[in-house]
Amino acid sequence: MKNQLRYLSGFLMSVLLTLTLHAQPLVVKTDQPIAEIQPTMWGLFFEDINMGADGGIYAELIKNRSFEFDTPMMGWKELKQNGAEGSILIHNAELINPANRRYVRIKRNNDNGTYGITNEGFRGMGIKEGNQYDFSILARQHEGSHITLKVEVVGKGGKVLGTATVSPEGREWKKYKASFTASGTELKAKFNIIAEGQGAIDLDMISLFPQDTWKGRPEGLRADMVQMLDDMKPGFFRFPGGCIVEGRTLDERFQWKKTIGPIEERALIVNRWNTEFMHRHTPDYYQSFGLGFFEYFQIAEDIGAEPLPILNCGMACQFNTGEVVPLDQLGPYIQDALDLIEFANGSAETTWGKKRADMGHPAPFNMKYLGIGNEQWGEQYIERYKIFEAILKEKHPEIVLISTTGPFPEGEEFDYLDKELREMNVEIIDEHYYKPPQWFRENATRYDNYDRNGPKIFAGEYAAQSVAIASPDNKNNWECALAEAAFMTGLERNAEVVVMASYAPLFGHTEGWQWTPDLIWADNLDVYGTPNYYVQKLFSTNRGTHVVPILLNSEAITGQNDLFATAAVDKKSKDVILKIVNTSDKAIEREIQFEGAGKLNAKGTMQLLRSDQLDAVNSIGQPKAVSPVEESVRVKGDKLNLSIAPYSLSVVKLKMR
Ligand code: AHR
Repeated sequence: MKNQLRYLSGFLMSVLLTLTLHAQPLVVKTDQPIAEIQPTMWGLFFEDINMGADGGIYAELIKNRSFEFDTPMMGWKELKQNGAEGSILIHNAELINPANRRYVRIKRNNDNGTYGITNEGFRGMGIKEGNQYDFSILARQHEGSHITLKVEVVGKGGKVLGTATVSPEGREWKKYKASFTASGTELKAKFNIIAEGQGAIDLDMISLFPQDTWKGRPEGLRADMVQMLDDMKPGFFRFPGGCIVEGRTLDERFQWKKTIGPIEERALIVNRWNTEFMHRHTPDYYQSFGLGFFEYFQIAEDIGAEPLPILNCGMACQFNTGEVVPLDQLGPYIQDALDLIEFANGSAETTWGKKRADMGHPAPFNMKYLGIGNEQWGEQYIERYKIFEAILKEKHPEIVLISTTGPFPEGEEFDYLDKELREMNVEIIDEHYYKPPQWFRENATRYDNYDRNGPKIFAGEYAAQSVAIASPDNKNNWECALAEAAFMTGLERNAEVVVMASYAPLFGHTEGWQWTPDLIWADNLDVYGTPNYYVQKLFSTNRGTHVVPILLNSEAITGQNDLFATAAVDKKSKDVILKIVNTSDKAIEREIQFEGAGKLNAKGTMQLLRSDQLDAVNSIGQPKAVSPVEESVRVKGDKLNLSIAPYSLSVVKLKMR
């Protein structure tokens, strides 16, 4: 009996509590700004992982175009039909171009049939009907030879989708070009180079690009993929990673100076993701650097984002060799940082500024931020960071430096680095979190107690992992995206401390990936945004200039009744912007009261991103299964009655008069 009474009173209490909570309005204090939201708040993290650059955003269709992969003919095969006889031989001639030593010699031994080489592309080549394609090649005839090159793109069943011919002359290396229009669409085309005539010919830098690149730049980037980034209106663009900055070994680290200038002089190296995961081994993953530092700065400029390069700090990836450069030999690494500042910001009269100008950009890129090290840990990082900081700050106090607390958002290493960096009073600390969705929901208050006068925070890499970190079974599902949205309300609410945030990684090729989840997926023809992409986009395109309180029972809304919320005003456009996340399976009815907004326009908008299924995903076939839908909302006086849908992110925008 006693137990029954206790149960009954507990039950009545919880009913009472629920009713009380239901009765409570959300109160938005539009005239009490807590902090400015930095224009850099929501940005992008780019890394050449998952075939993000080569085979991805960099639109080159030929894999191993200069035969510099460790296995020189990887991606290529001999093409030999109808009685043709010939040979293929890789030459290595350091004297011609030390950055690009190898070339292929194709020799014909008879006049029969078809002889040449064929390239498989990056999991095939995406070819679109009606598009123009630009072929180019470096070639020279061998002594006494007369070889003409017929090139063709071939689809299913050997159907030729486009063809062109070039006729190299003489024994000197020269560049030859030809273009053609594709007569069909194919996801997995291949490319043939057929040697017609007699003798032998040397070939190098064999290249094929679509003409419909981003901004129509020759030999440029995939327009559809850059468009996805541009649509997000990101505040910054971080490049080139990620662990790729560090390299598996120091020799394989990312060296920006080797990624600029004429592309045939950019020395290819292995991609560290080539061998990282045995379960996603990718032996054909290399970095051609066709997408190099100049192009990275150009992307940032094109999409209106602050460029944010991250440089190696004299440490190789600590998940791999963890090699370090002795402290007294850091000179070249620091010089790379100083020269990068000159490359980005120096006048065209300076040594490195001139290189930028020679590449077609005389005006500076106006770089303001620089990251020193990616995911380093231990005292070896602090020792190195201090040396970088002392020299860079003395010579370039205007550049804001970003330091790191390593791969994990808590634990011994994190605590050590956080303490050291705070004692050094660094400017911005980069924190990373790859955690389960629950962690994201539970950590919406993570920054509530961070020191307002200490270093600012860059939430530089984060993504909810549906199974486990680096598991190949992780999915970009709605549960993860919704948890990230809940967490992001906490980032925005703490805009006083958090000045930058980016999901990671950015791109995944549907067949060439090593790491999942990823924000945007692409195959050779199409691209789609994940539910996580739409969360990021909604936050970024509805940023506001100042965060203001949104309260329930006079408290910030950080998960009570599965509700998370943040509010901002835009002092320029006079908008009030609410971002409300409901992580429960029930609709929540709420009145929202606006204080200090004067008269609000009666009509406002709501972008609703939701799904009933927490395991819902987008795909190439259903790219917008989970994507925002716009509705209108009506304000009565200073109140809005909202039904907050189950499992949803709602972004409400109202105009203050
Ligand atoms: O985003 C994938 C990897 O995760 C990054 O390269 C690295 O910084 C982190 O460990």
